[in-house]
Amino acid sequence: MSYYPYQSRYKKMIVGTDVLIPLTNGRYAKEINFDNAATTPPLISVMKAINDFAPWYSSIHRGSGYKSQLSSEIYENARKIIGKFVNIDNDFSTVIFVKNTTEALNKISDKLAQSKKDGIILSSYMEHHSNDLPWRKNFRIDYINITKKGNLCINSYANKLRRYNGKVKLVTLSGASNVTGYKTNIHQFAELAHKYGAKILIDGAQLIPHSPINMKSHYDSKHIDYLVFSSHKIYAPFGTGVLIAPKDTFSRGTPTQVGGGTVKMVTPSYVIWDDLPHKEEAGTPNLMGIVALQTAISTLSKIGMDEIENFELKLTQYTLDKLNKFKDVIIYGNERDCNNRIGIITFNIKGLHHSTVAEILSKEAGISVRSGCFCAQPYIQKLLNLSPREIYAHKNNPYSPHPGMVRISFGLYNDYGEIDVLIKLIKKIIKNKTYYRKKYPCKDYEIFNSARY
Ligand SMILES: Cc1ncc(COP(=O)(O)O)c(C=O)c1O
Repeated sequence: MSYYPYQSRYKKMIVGTDVLIPLTNGRYAKEINFDNAATTPPLISVMKAINDFAPWYSSIHRGSGYKSQLSSEIYENARKIIGKFVNIDNDFSTVIFVKNTTEALNKISDKLAQSKKDGIILSSYMEHHSNDLPWRKNFRIDYINITKKGNLCINSYANKLRRYNGKVKLVTLSGASNVTGYKTNIHQFAELAHKYGAKILIDGAQLIPHSPINMKSHYDSKHIDYLVFSSHKIYAPFGTGVLIAPKDTFSRGTPTQVGGGTVKMVTPSYVIWDDLPHKEEAGTPNLMGIVALQTAISTLSKIGMDEIENFELKLTQYTLDKLNKFKDVIIYGNERDCNNRIGIITFNIKGLHHSTVAEILSKEAGISVRSGCFCAQPYIQKLLNLSPREIYAHKNNPYSPHPGMVRISFGLYNDYGEIDVLIKLIKKIIKNKTYYRKKYPCKDYEIFNSARY
């Protein structure tokens, strides 16, 4: 496999890639950002679009001035751009703008709870807390099992659907895991959900920026009913999120949030709610965020989502091949290849706490990663094979060490040269553990003898 070009040709499209980071040795290094699963820097095209649009920015929907009309047109047109990007079925679905994925999931949960709280929500042990807690709040929830390697277990899924015999209201799953990078076979899961009369929601927070997605026609049994994602993970960090849902979920009843922008008519005793999607967008919308998001989508579409996915997976395979050479590195999930995944790798170095490794990478080479549980504690507990005693140790004693891992997550602007810097430093860390332990004392107590941490 050819790994060249050595440097990503997309790097120059991103803001801040040449920023210098202070190191502990007094020198500076260009930041290497391997924390794209948390959030992504803006595209240069996004910043330019915001600047170009700023003189035209105005109130949307209710203003009569030229700028207002223009702003409204841009805002409404963004729904079409997003719909096309994920191939929504316009006859059945609506695009609602929210703040982020978390808000979208809470909104859907609250809306579904308005009608009936019966029915089961089927989720999985692979989920981010944002695709778990909003459902726990309102419904009875059950979880699809995962395999030892952390994959969703299709047999467990099929069995649960069969056992609940039509009582599952909604299946809600990550399109891609923010921990192992596993991609869910969303259309296979959708087909089964529909066979048992359930709808399916895909949490696209990690999928949308790294892989093409097709929601498909509602007449196709493999279609996706609900899709949610955040713009800050797709190079447009300006506070917008997207919720795509069947219109009939939100068309009846009271909006989940009420106020300006949600009504057709209000008297002291009477309210007529506006049509969708406006009735679900209370308050002044984040137009600048929408300009940012639609520009990011246009830029990524020009490159091609297949091309982005292929490139990021090449980076991932290159890194896996190198990490696998270290016997002191434990990789979680699929440690060998890039089948059905996005560019996320989680690992630990035996005998070093995850937070220490993350600190060394940052302070010795300007490499940003994330360490800990990545808002997916049940998944981490399973991947680390923690016993109930180990899990509850932290509940009973908040000063007990936090389990966790180190996560590398790629964006389209990362490159092989950056990975080589990381690998070189990991090699050095493994060779000099005692030295680094002394230099960066672990704040999370003495647990170095456990390979799990
Ligand atoms: C899989 C997944 N779902 C949901 C979220 C929540 O996204 P946000 O914080 O943008 O609401 C994240 C964030 O990391 C995520 O990775």
